[in-house]
Amino acid sequence: MSTSTISPKGLEGIVAASSSICYIDGEAGVLAYRGIDIHDLAEKSTFEETCHLLWYGKLPTRSELDGLNRQLASERKIDPAVIQLIRNLPRTAIPMEVLRTAVSALSPYDPDAEKMDHAANVRKAIRLTSQIAMIVAAYDRIRKGKDVVQPDPSLSHAGNFLLMLNGERPSPTAQKALDVALILHADHELNASTFAARVIAATLSDMHSAITGAIGALKGPLHGGANEAVMRMLFEIDKKGEDPVEHVKDMLANKKKVSGFGHRVYHTEDPRATHLRQMSRDLGRDANPKWYDLSARIEKYINSEKHLNANVDFYSASTYTTLGLDVDLFTPVFAISRISGWAAHVIEQLDDNRLIRPRADYIGPKYPNRYIPIEQR
Ligand SMILES: CC(C)(COP(=O)(O)OP(=O)(O)OC[C@H]1O[C@@H](n2cnc3c(N)ncnc32)[C@H](O)[C@@H]1OP(=O)(O)O)[C@@H](O)C(=O)NCCC(=O)NCCS
Repeated sequence: MSTSTISPKGLEGIVAASSSICYIDGEAGVLAYRGIDIHDLAEKSTFEETCHLLWYGKLPTRSELDGLNRQLASERKIDPAVIQLIRNLPRTAIPMEVLRTAVSALSPYDPDAEKMDHAANVRKAIRLTSQIAMIVAAYDRIRKGKDVVQPDPSLSHAGNFLLMLNGERPSPTAQKALDVALILHADHELNASTFAARVIAATLSDMHSAITGAIGALKGPLHGGANEAVMRMLFEIDKKGEDPVEHVKDMLANKKKVSGFGHRVYHTEDPRATHLRQMSRDLGRDANPKWYDLSARIEKYINSEKHLNANVDFYSASTYTTLGLDVDLFTPVFAISRISGWAAHVIEQLDDNRLIRPRADYIGPKYPNRYIPIEQR
């Protein structure tokens, strides 16, 4: 096939794959996994059930869900060598770089590492989902000089993460809030990190390579890193005792983007933001309403001045802070969820693979450009 059209900058609006995993209508503000609306999943499902939906293409029966829960529990183990590797990293390492490094280091210990068949890919999806949450929790304990906490098979995925992070059984409210946040972040079609994962998988490289690359993409402040940037802004406003509206007015006047607003695909409310706003408000009411209140004032101003809507990252910041998470764990928590979607896309890519290799519109010096020997330059 010849290339004739030039893609818009950032591939905006380009359809780059066929997929049966995630449906988005950016004009109507619809997000659905396998056709099931995110609002239904957030209200009625669990993260584990959502994983089943993403990986197997359908909601599980009771026994299928029990089986998946058992598999997730039995895969909550990491070779001690990888924990030692994490311990050897400087305590100043940010959790996203530790996660990126540790996920890459898991592959030599994975019995399916180089297997590319569908069943092996599903096994790796389960294993990596269990392990990524463990890595994030373990590093946070290690950097704070605390013991690594063992998982509890009776707890959910969200519950286990909170247990392994804090060393105590989480409250039902905290478990539920994190569970819903994990559902909301599980997949989002061809976002930057998922596209990166599919490109890597399509070379017939292994799943660990694809997920390591995806973690690298998620780390950026234009993608998953935005939730951390939102909270740093709220902390700064609070510390200086500033008016939040004046703060963002200044940012806009200086042509700075306000993290947590705008979206490449949604031109209306990001449906995930609806739930996170509610969660931030409810959790804040019971604990400390300050972060929700600051956020709401900023949102109102940006809505009316810039006609930009809050995205998934805006209210996840105040939600996670109210749950007691450190700011640099926000993007890792995104990864704890998004591994489910990344893995689903890698599985789908490898089920019907073709190398992803687009073309570039060449805008360099005119060909032929004469080679000048070094003595004459
Ligand atoms: C998400 C994002 C990267 C989408 O980028 P994009 O589709 O390339 O859109 P652009 O950056 O070209 O933005 C289009 C216009 O809206 C403005 N805009 C978009 N997001 C903005 C924001 N958060 N704050 C202020 N202005 C914003 C841009 O300045 C641009 O205005 P211009 O046309 O006058 O130059 C962008 O909205 C952004 O950087 N948001 C902040 C980071 C963030 O929250 N990321 C998480 C996404 S889930």
